[in-house]
Amino acid sequence: MKLNQKRVLITGASSGIGYQLALQMARQGARLALVARSEDKLQSLRQEIEKHHGIAIPMPTDISEAETIYQTVAQAASQLGGLDLVIANAGVGIVMPAHKMKPHHVDRMLQVNLQGAIHTLLAGLQLMLDSGGGQLVGISSLAGFRGLPQSAVYSATKSGLITFMESLRVEYRHKNIRVTTICPGFVHTPMTEKNTQPMPFALSAEKAGSKIISAIEAEKKLYCFPTPLGYGIRLLHCLPNFLFDPLVGLNR
Ligand SMILES: NC(=O)c1ccc[n+]([C@@H]2O[C@H](COP(=O)([O-])OP(=O)(O)OC[C@H]3O[C@@H](n4cnc5c(N)ncnc54)[C@H](OP(=O)(O)O)[C@@H]3O)[C@@H](O)[C@H]2O)c1
Repeated sequence: MKLNQKRVLITGASSGIGYQLALQMARQGARLALVARSEDKLQSLRQEIEKHHGIAIPMPTDISEAETIYQTVAQAASQLGGLDLVIANAGVGIVMPAHKMKPHHVDRMLQVNLQGAIHTLLAGLQLMLDSGGGQLVGISSLAGFRGLPQSAVYSATKSGLITFMESLRVEYRHKNIRVTTICPGFVHTPMTEKNTQPMPFALSAEKAGSKIISAIEAEKKLYCFPTPLGYGIRLLHCLPNFLFDPLVGLNR
């Protein structure tokens, strides 16, 4: 899918990867609906995009409220004249030992990373089926391939999203619904700025954004990056538990 004149909705557009996706897609001529809670940040992104003659509509929304997401997606389609591409990118990453997690940490990650993403994509799917097709993109994570220490809930939400995307892909493959699952490794964004653990092969949000856009344009089914970490984590995926457990639990 070439992005010029495409109608795109992006969640989590106020920051990090989503911000970069919006900015770079606008430069390629896409018309955008920008979704996140922070209206001020969405407005300044809109101004930035308009400086370069792009089109972007801020749509402040809390995607942990299911009904609200469907309304936002419908409004975006009505204002842009339809939707060609919906990107479920908004996410929350809380890294801590599982026994220290409070119910609100668990609820937030489930509500945003999994439920919010699912509702966003289902709202997009329904519109696309009515209009003859489109592309759905879910921003998961390499952390979704195996349960990692300190990330039990985060890994579970990202794993759930990978499986959800796969179901959509096979279920709608004859309906002109293209499905792309993106699994980034470490990216420097506000989500990771307080991370005290090493972040091997970490990329800037700008670089991650351009890699994700190339994968979307190529309509890849699954895109894991950066390449060395992508291969590494998929190798871990195949590793039997008796090797995986001591390796990943090392030094803990
Ligand atoms: N950074 C990494 O290393 C990394 C690696 C793999 C995968 N990912 C995934 O990439 C995606 C983007 O992450 P990022 O690193 O760019 O994080 P980020 O900079 O913290 O951005 C997260 C975005 O999600 C939005 N968001 C959070 N809660 C929301 C809610 N309830 N309703 C609507 N929007 C909400 C935030 O906007 P508001 O606060 O304005 O609502 C923000 O725009 C996430 O799904 C993340 O899991 C990131």
